[in-house]
Order: sequence, then structure tokens, then C-alpha cells
Amino acid sequence: MPAIKGNKFVIVGGASLLGSNIGRQLLAAGASEVVLMDNLSLGSASAVEDLVTDSRCTFIRGDMLRINELFDPMKGAAGVFNVAGFLGGPMLANPWMGLDVNIRGIQNVLEACRVMGVQKLIFSSSMGVYGKINEQPCTEDAPFDWNGVGPGLALYSGSKIVGEGLCQLYHQQHGLGYAALRYSNLYGENQHKRAIDGTRVVNAWERIRAGLPPVIDGDGSNVTDFIYIGDVARANLMAMEAAANGAYNIVSGVDTSFNQLIGALLKACGSDLKPEYKVDQAKVANPVVTKLGVSVAKAKADLGWEPTVDIEEGMRRLVVWLDSERAKGRI
Ligand SMILES: NC(=O)c1ccc[n+]([C@@H]2O[C@H](COP(=O)([O-])OP(=O)(O)OC[C@H]3O[C@@H](n4cnc5c(N)ncnc54)[C@H](O)[C@@H]3O)[C@@H](O)[C@H]2O)c1
Repeated sequence: MPAIKGNKFVIVGGASLLGSNIGRQLLAAGASEVVLMDNLSLGSASAVEDLVTDSRCTFIRGDMLRINELFDPMKGAAGVFNVAGFLGGPMLANPWMGLDVNIRGIQNVLEACRVMGVQKLIFSSSMGVYGKINEQPCTEDAPFDWNGVGPGLALYSGSKIVGEGLCQLYHQQHGLGYAALRYSNLYGENQHKRAIDGTRVVNAWERIRAGLPPVIDGDGSNVTDFIYIGDVARANLMAMEAAANGAYNIVSGVDTSFNQLIGALLKACGSDLKPEYKVDQAKVANPVVTKLGVSVAKAKADLGWEPTVDIEEGMRRLVVWLDSERAKGRI
């Protein structure tokens, strides 16, 4: 659909972990204008301070729950990235606001796209739409399974399923191009503590830098899929340019146990500390599984996308960023 080069794009939720990385790649790829819109309820202006030094990029403080605030930023935009959303933790802390943002918010964005003649919307969805994963490989056709899914995650997952349904509806009824990208756990530059497994990694880094052993939940055999933020931002740009519409798994496709994950983090930190094993009492937790096997085949076939940064290199980049933020006194 719209080429990145020479076109205007809006990122709703632009001050986020992902939005800031999409913005950076859009500017590098030659977008004529990039509007970062965010109400800063969760994200931070510091995440985009380098981007707004580029004359093609503007930051607008606005709320997607007020549809009138979406029209002006979308004037002349070829495409919109809807990144704003409440993750499982913030959802559990404030379910009313979380459901509003994740459902009414995307409704408003879709309607504003229709009114303003936007060609394509990329919606940030989640692997959470599968709940507990039972089938390997887990393709985009797998159903949602509630088994072992706590309320925070169930509300989050349900809100993403509704969001995807609304995108499908606008595609069928109004011809708006769309892709719903189902991410696994994002990590990388501009990392925050709002996602379950990302928080575990940052907590482990904090302990390692304090000279304490990182803590692993259970025996560490629980697996997760971690995907580097730069690969995810690139998937967003490729989905925008692709002719295809629909839902896509944007994941590494590699099952990584917490033992491997923390091992890679310790290596990236240059530490020989040994992890400590404890049962985590986290209120919001992903289902415990020892096999995931999420397929990236559809994204590869339709979008030409596949991940390029493995967990060792990704953890190295994350540690470089965390250490530099600490040196600036920001974390
Ligand atoms: N982080 C992950 O591990 C992960 C995994 C799967 C899916 N996702 C999805 O990807 C997207 C991006 O994740 P992230 O970690 O970058 O998110 P994030 O928490 O960093 O950012 C969400 C952004 O939305 C903004 N926002 C919230 N309410 C808003 C409103 N009413 N109007 C305008 N802006 C508003 C916040 O201020 C924040 O900047 C989210 O939709 C999330 O659900 C994230």
C-alpha cells in the first residue's frame, strides 16, 4: 500500500517503546512527515526527544479517546500506526481506562482514518489473542484458550481480539487497508516496566548491576518468545507497504526458557553471578508453558518479514541502552 518514502504517517501512542522505534525507522526510510501523537499517560517525551530534532517530525500531545483530537494530525496522512494500548499490568491496575483505550481508542482511530481518507492502518495486537498456546506450530488460525489465563491478561487479550475485529470490519465495510500484528514480548531500546516478561528482564538487570543474583521464577524451564524491538518496528513498516491485509504473528519463532534468557542477560552484562530460583507471586503472569512454537511463516510469505536479531545480540543492545540511561540518571 503506501510507500514509506515521501509520505506522511501518524503514530498514535508515539511516545511508547514501539512507537518511538517505528518513528525512528520511518524517518530513516525517507517519510516526508511523521506525527507522534500521545497523551503521555504511560509513555514519556524523553523516548522521542531525539526524533523531534528532525524537522519532519512533530510531537502532539493528544488523547485518542477524544476523536476530534485525531482529525488534524491525520490530515494528508497516507498511513497510521496504532500503537497506543494498555498492557496486562496497566490493564489490571485500571481496567476501566484500559478497556476504553484498547477498544474505544481503536474505534476512534479507525473512524478518524475513514473520515480523513487514510489508506492503511497497522494495529498493534498481541500473541495474547491465543491465550494459552496448545498447537505447534501456532499459526494465525489458532483459537483463544482461557485455560490458565488470569483476569488482567484475559481482559487485555479480549480487548486485542475486539480491536482486530474492528479492523476487519472497517476493511470490509470501508475498504481501509489494515494489518493486525500479533507481537510476542517486545524488548530493546526504550524498554519499560509495563509488560510482564520485559519487567522481569529489567528487574534482573537492576539486580545484576547492584551485584545481586538475578531472580528466576520457578525452575526457569518456562519458555517465552522474545522479539527485538527493531525487528518489530521494521515489521510495521513492511506491513504498511505490503499489499496484503490481515493478522500476522510478529515473533522470533524461537522458544527461549528463562534460564536461557537470564543467561544471555548475564553474558551481556559481563557478569558471572548465578541466578536465584524463587516462586514469583506476580499478579499478572503469562501461562506457564515449556513449548510455544509460534509460526512466522505467514508474515514471511505475505510481508517478506522475518526476525534478524537473536536473543544474545538483542540482550547486548538492551544492556547498552539500560546502562546508558542509568549513566544519564534517567533510570
Ligand atoms: N510491550 C510488549 O511486550 C507488547 C507485547 C505484545 C503487544 N504489545 C502491544 O504493542 C503496543 C505497543 O507496546 P509498547 O510496549 O510500546 O506500549 P507502551 O506501554 O510503551 O505505550 C503505550 C502508549 O500509549 C499511550 N497512550 C495510552 N493511552 C492513550 C490515549 N488515550 N491517547 C493517546 N496515547 C495513549 C501511552 O502514553 C504510551 O506511550 C501496545 O498496543 C501493546 O498492547 C506490546
